Amino acid sequence: MDVEEALEFVDHLAVTTTGKHLDSLQKAILRGTWENQKYKEIAQDHNRSEKYVKEVGFKLWKLMSVALGQEQVSKANFRAKLENLQVSNVSLVGNGCIHIRNISADTFYSPKASQSEPQDKNKFNKKTSNSERKIHLDLADAPEPNLFYNRTPQLSILENWILGRTRLITILGLSGIGKTALTLQLIPQIQHEFDYIIWRSLRNSPPLASLQTDLIKSCRGAVPVPAPYPEERATTGGLPLLEYLRSHRCLIILDDIQTIFSSQQLAGNYQPGYENYGAFFKQIAESSHNSCLILLSWEKPREIATLESENRPCKSLQLNGLGAEAQEIFKEKGLAEPDKWSELIDIYRGNPLWLNIVATMIQDLFSGSVSEFLSYDTLFLGDLESLLHQQCDRLTASEQQAMGWLASTPEPADISKIPENLQLSPPELLKVMQSLGRRSLVETVQQNGRSHFTIAPVIREYITNKK
Ligand SMILES: Nc1ncnc2c1ncn2[C@@H]1O[C@H](COP(=O)(O)OP(=O)(O)O)[C@@H](O)[C@H]1O
Ligand SMILES: [Mg+2]
Repeated sequence: MDVEEALEFVDHLAVTTTGKHLDSLQKAILRGTWENQKYKEIAQDHNRSEKYVKEVGFKLWKLMSVALGQEQVSKANFRAKLENLQVSNVSLVGNGCIHIRNISADTFYSPKASQSEPQDKNKFNKKTSNSERKIHLDLADAPEPNLFYNRTPQLSILENWILGRTRLITILGLSGIGKTALTLQLIPQIQHEFDYIIWRSLRNSPPLASLQTDLIKSCRGAVPVPAPYPEERATTGGLPLLEYLRSHRCLIILDDIQTIFSSQQLAGNYQPGYENYGAFFKQIAESSHNSCLILLSWEKPREIATLESENRPCKSLQLNGLGAEAQEIFKEKGLAEPDKWSELIDIYRGNPLWLNIVATMIQDLFSGSVSEFLSYDTLFLGDLESLLHQQCDRLTASEQQAMGWLASTPEPADISKIPENLQLSPPELLKVMQSLGRRSLVETVQQNGRSHFTIAPVIREYITNKK
C-alpha cells in the first residue's frame, strides 16, 4: 500500500463511520505522518497551530481505532498498520457500511508470530473461523470519538456483560456525562464478538416501525439473509428484526432514547404512539438469541426496572461523573491553579460536558484563573443553563415541587419529614423521588443509617434561579 492508497482507504473509513470525507488538513496529517513528519512540521506547512494539528490528528487515530477495531492506531504506528493491512481483507459496500474481514484479528497483527506457535489444532480452527468472519459496522450515525479519559472500570463491566450474553444493556446518566463517548470506546473492545454492529440515534424520535425497517435494511445491505423478509412485517407488529438477531450476533446501539419518552410525566413513560418500544425492549430481553441491544438514555425505561427485578439478561449501568482524571480536561484547556481543580470537579460532579463548558468560560472570563471564578458567591451557569433547561423542563409539577424543596434545603433531606408546603402524600413523594432518581437528578446519601436526598450544586443553582 502506498500513501495514496492509504489516504483513499482512510477516506472510505471516514465516510462509512462519520458520513464525511477527510478534509484537507486531515489528509495533510496522514500524508505527513506517512512521511515521518512531526506535528510541528505539518502545522508549519499548513499555517496552523501545532496544538490544533495534534487535536485533529488525535481524532483521526481514534476514528481509525474505532473503525478498524485496532488496539490503538497512533501517529507512531499508523504507517506500519496500514502497510501490513491486507487490502483484500476489506471490502467496502454501499449504504454507509463497511465489511471488515479479520481486520484486527491475528493475521492483521502478526501472521508470522502465529505461524511459529505450537500447532494446537483447536486454536488453529478457531483462528481460521475468526479470520473468515465478517464484521458489518454501520456507525455512520455515531459521533466522532473525541478525547477520552479513564472509565476503565465501566468499560470492563460492559465488556463482561456482553461476554456473558446480556441481551439488553441500558446506560443511564445526565446529558453530557459521557454515555455516547463511553459506548464509542467500548466498540473496539468487543466488536469481534459480533457479526453486525449498528449505531442509531433516536434524536428525531423515529416510530418503532421505521427504526426496525432501517435496521433490517442495514443488516440486509451487509449480507444476504434468508428470504423472504417482507418489508410490511416490520410495520404490522411482527418482529422480523428478531430473526436477524437470532441468525447473526448483532450489537445494536440506540442513542438518545429519551426522545421517545413524554415530558411532564414521570420518568420512562412513552410518548403516545411510542408505547410499542416498551414491548420491543421486553422482547429483546426475553426472547432467545445471542444479540445485544444497548440503550443510551437520560431516563430509565419502565420495562427495564421490571426486567431487572425478574433476573432477565438485562442490566443497566448508571454513569456518574469522572473523578480526578477529569483534571486532564482542565490541563487540555490550559486552566491555572491545579490545586483548585478538584473543587471544580466536585461542584460540576465530574460531568465532562459541564467541565468543558465551565473551563472554556473560565478561560474566556478570567484568563484561566479558577480562584477568581470560585470567588463569586453564586455559581455562574452560562451555557449550562440551556442544557439544564432541557432536562428540567421534562419534569411533572410534583417533581418540580420536590426539586424546589431539595434546592432550598442545604443539607441532604430526609423524605420521611415532608414539609407542610409540599403538597404531596408520602406515597406520592416516594413515587416522585423514584422518578427523579430514574432521571439521575437526585443523589442519595446515607446518614445515620437512613437514605437522604440531595441535588448537585449546579442543578440547585438552576432551580433556585428559576423560582
Ligand atoms: N471519559 C471522558 N473523557 C473526556 N471527555 C469525555 C469523556 N466522556 C465524555 N467526554 C466528553 O464530554 C462530552 C459529552 O459526552 P457525551 O458522551 O456526548 O455525553 P452523553 O452522551 O452522556 O450526553 C463530549 O464532548 C465528550 O467528548
Ligand atoms: Mg449522547
